[in-house]
Amino acid sequence: MKKHLLSIAVLSLLAAAAASSASAQENYQPSPEIVKAQEQFRENRFGIFIHWGIYSMYGQGEWALNYNGLTHEEYSKMAGGFYPADFDAAEWVSAVKAAGAKYICITTRHHDGFSMFDSKCTDYDIMDATPFRRDIIAELAAECERQDMPLHFYYSLIDWGRTDAPRGRTGQGTGRPEATDPDTYFDFMKCQLTELLTRYGNVGCIWFDGNWDHEEWEQPLDYRYDELYPLIHELQPGCLIGNNHHITPYPGENIQIFERDIPGENTAGWHSGGVSTTLPLETCQTMNGSWGYRMTDQNYKSVDELIRYLVSTAGRDANLLLNVGPQPDGNIPAAALERLAAMGEWLGTYGETIYGTRSTLVKPQPWGVTTHKDDRMWLHVFPADAFKAAADGQIYVPYKDGRKVASVTPYGSSDVKLAFKQYKEGLFITLPEDMPADVPDYIVEVTFR
Ligand code: GLC
Repeated sequence: MKKHLLSIAVLSLLAAAAASSASAQENYQPSPEIVKAQEQFRENRFGIFIHWGIYSMYGQGEWALNYNGLTHEEYSKMAGGFYPADFDAAEWVSAVKAAGAKYICITTRHHDGFSMFDSKCTDYDIMDATPFRRDIIAELAAECERQDMPLHFYYSLIDWGRTDAPRGRTGQGTGRPEATDPDTYFDFMKCQLTELLTRYGNVGCIWFDGNWDHEEWEQPLDYRYDELYPLIHELQPGCLIGNNHHITPYPGENIQIFERDIPGENTAGWHSGGVSTTLPLETCQTMNGSWGYRMTDQNYKSVDELIRYLVSTAGRDANLLLNVGPQPDGNIPAAALERLAAMGEWLGTYGETIYGTRSTLVKPQPWGVTTHKDDRMWLHVFPADAFKAAADGQIYVPYKDGRKVASVTPYGSSDVKLAFKQYKEGLFITLPEDMPADVPDYIVEVTFR
């Protein structure tokens, strides 16, 4: 009984500590550098996520260690064979560019604890534990700098290998003790974050993941954001902080992340945090069903689906961070490359209706979504939905912002005028009778006076 009471006391202390960490930054105000970075981030609208680690060798996604019930000792032996001979940062960045994406976010260290960069804070990294001995993050950072591509770093708060990393709901069978003294683990994370923010040029964002491992679990953990966040902003005042925790953003965070979820839809059922009206939003999504390379997963979304997903996120005022999982040989899978190229082609024609736009005038509608910039608003009509939603060939656009509409035309055909009526309650627009059914997105341009 005594022991029980003691552990309740310890748990409530921990819970209080967790709460205090979150509130310690309560008075956080974004610096001018952050405000500028947030604006740029929003304008980019489309980024590519790269999940890559020694787990790619297992070909089972990035959770191979956890799902196979391996000990970390056994799992980590794969590092000794990691030699991605085809890895070429220039090819990767060029493929991302050709896709029309405006930034890259790469896993520097995932839950398996393996560091893809030359870290002096551990030997379990690309330089000391593999025969490859090339700093992948340094090569990518240099290439991103050359091609003017902002680089973001995914960084896991979980470590299924280190014996000082607090055990949460996952990775319980990997050989870590049940209880740890996390001080050295937090020192280690600070050591690595300092490396990442001082050695690789400008870092666009630190993208945390893994908070959910303790959140709402019987053993809460103080993630010490009151130490980690200021450290990041001290080292790079313009580096955004995002945290994939699925809850309301903590003070000190600069973007809100939605995992496999278009903001507000909560299709994945994980999000309990609402949608921020002040922070830029980002939805991360897989191209097939996996983040890390999974050889049995050829279930790729079609190009049309991916385009519609990008348009749907922009139409909810959010960025899309679309994932690729490179193979163990360093190549991005061919199926992913094809889709990237096709998206780039589409954006080459319609990019103006996506990049640098906002979507705050008209909420998503049964026929599609809207984006806008300056004196123009674009209706992204999804044909299959529109055929169902349109009445007498007309769609209703609840635009109530007051500006008078000057013209409505199919995007790219300013000589064709579409009939419209404008009321206080919104617009009624007549879609062309010959609107194609086989395009992912039919765009109508509304110009205001
Ligand atoms: C989840 C997964 C993790 C993945 C991340 C990407 O948190 O656990 O493996 O990296 O989503 O959003």
